[in-house]
Amino acid sequence: ERSNSTGTGTAPVLVASNRGPVSFSTAEDGTLDLRRGGGGLVSGLSAIGDPDAVWVCAALGDADRRAARAAPDGRLDRAGHDVGGQAVRMLDIDPETFARAYNGVANSTLWFVHHLLYATPTAPAFDAGFRTEWQAYTAYNAAFAEALAAEAAPGAAVLVQDYHLSLAPALLRAARPDLRIGHFSHTPWAPPEYFRLLPDDVAEAVLTGILGADRAGFLTRRWALAFAECCAAVLGAEVDREALTVTHAGRTTRLGVHGLGADADFLRERAHRPDVEERLAALREAVGDRRAVVRVDRTELSKNIVRGFQAYRHLLRTRPEWQDRVVHIAFAYPSRTDLAEYRDYTARVRELAAEINTEFGTDSWQPLILHVDDDFPRSLAAYRLADVALVNPIRDGMNLVAKEVPVVSDRGCALVLSREAGAHAELGEDALSVNPYDVIATSDALHAGLTMAADERADRTKRLAAAATALPPQQWFLDQLDALR
Ligand code: F6P
Repeated sequence: ERSNSTGTGTAPVLVASNRGPVSFSTAEDGTLDLRRGGGGLVSGLSAIGDPDAVWVCAALGDADRRAARAAPDGRLDRAGHDVGGQAVRMLDIDPETFARAYNGVANSTLWFVHHLLYATPTAPAFDAGFRTEWQAYTAYNAAFAEALAAEAAPGAAVLVQDYHLSLAPALLRAARPDLRIGHFSHTPWAPPEYFRLLPDDVAEAVLTGILGADRAGFLTRRWALAFAECCAAVLGAEVDREALTVTHAGRTTRLGVHGLGADADFLRERAHRPDVEERLAALREAVGDRRAVVRVDRTELSKNIVRGFQAYRHLLRTRPEWQDRVVHIAFAYPSRTDLAEYRDYTARVRELAAEINTEFGTDSWQPLILHVDDDFPRSLAAYRLADVALVNPIRDGMNLVAKEVPVVSDRGCALVLSREAGAHAELGEDALSVNPYDVIATSDALHAGLTMAADERADRTKRLAAAATALPPQQWFLDQLDALR
């Protein structure tokens, strides 16, 4: 039996996220092509193998919207469009509302706040335009809450994901107090003094929205505590820092820490398939007998690619012995290109790469190889080849690249890791830690990685791989579900 928007549905477990496990594009002949996504949630939900589970997500583009409209209630049929046996319900939110909620509030505001990305003399400025976006964000969250309320069986467990959906837990609780509701933040959480850049009512709504959940999950204890401090500062909530609970308006929400790990079995198998071997051969040819410094990121403001390049340039300038003895392979693939800040940043990344190649390059040596198209097998090949991996985000919820490299590295790889990445809490001991703003310290860490003795590198990589895989995605998901129930 299908549900309707006011009745009670049949799903015992639900996941809600902006980006779903499948996406569509329009083929040349006008038909819809389906692409399945990867990531922790996809393997996690597949692991429970419940055919009645439902994943609620947004239609992100025109092809998704066509697919959603063609399906009854936007619920894609299991035969062609499911993920690991679970049904997907794609919400056909009108494009303007979606763009305001996703670009305006989620990515230009909440993402900026949690990653400390504002240049505060001019931004943010919460004006009438923002208020329109905020209304859209509220409507977008209400659409999710309504769909979840309609799909959920009595007493079902609902796992709401991330900063796109911070209002949905409280809205859902109001409609369906019988549900067990979890929220999980995949981002860092801002410290209170930075979080309070938000207009007071917005800051309050975001916090009370998440507190509508029974459990709010975070990737590290640091982010969970920052959330608790925001609740204390903004709402006057009562916080137990030991037990990790927040009590506000008569209800207690428990905070959970679940440090998503790398999927060792999947990665090791995937990293030895022919398409990866082929790319590895091409990279080996480009690098020759030189060392390889590798980075793999979305072209994302928080990933700190520009300072990473500056650090590499500083290395070549101040330690000329590395000239012609090292190659920096940088993959920076497109992300959120609707936002001007991301387009400008992408241009700066490309410009700086060209400047470095002009300053040092010779006929036989290209010091920096920048690839801007997303190619997962090529990333895996680079992980296998790397002598040093550079992961230097300004701030990052976790950063899975830092966890994936040690798992697939062929000969051991030194990890230069920002102390502001969530992964640092688990990998800090065997990584070369850096302050991501300190270009010279980052350059020194690159040098330390490049000169690390082979056996030390191999030992550290082994320990990093063990720490990185301590909580594989399937277990990460099941832990949250168990804790919620
Ligand atoms: O939590 C951050 C996140 O939502 C991740 O799931 C993912 O790495 C990234 O942001 C993707 O962002 P977008 O969906 O905007 O491309």
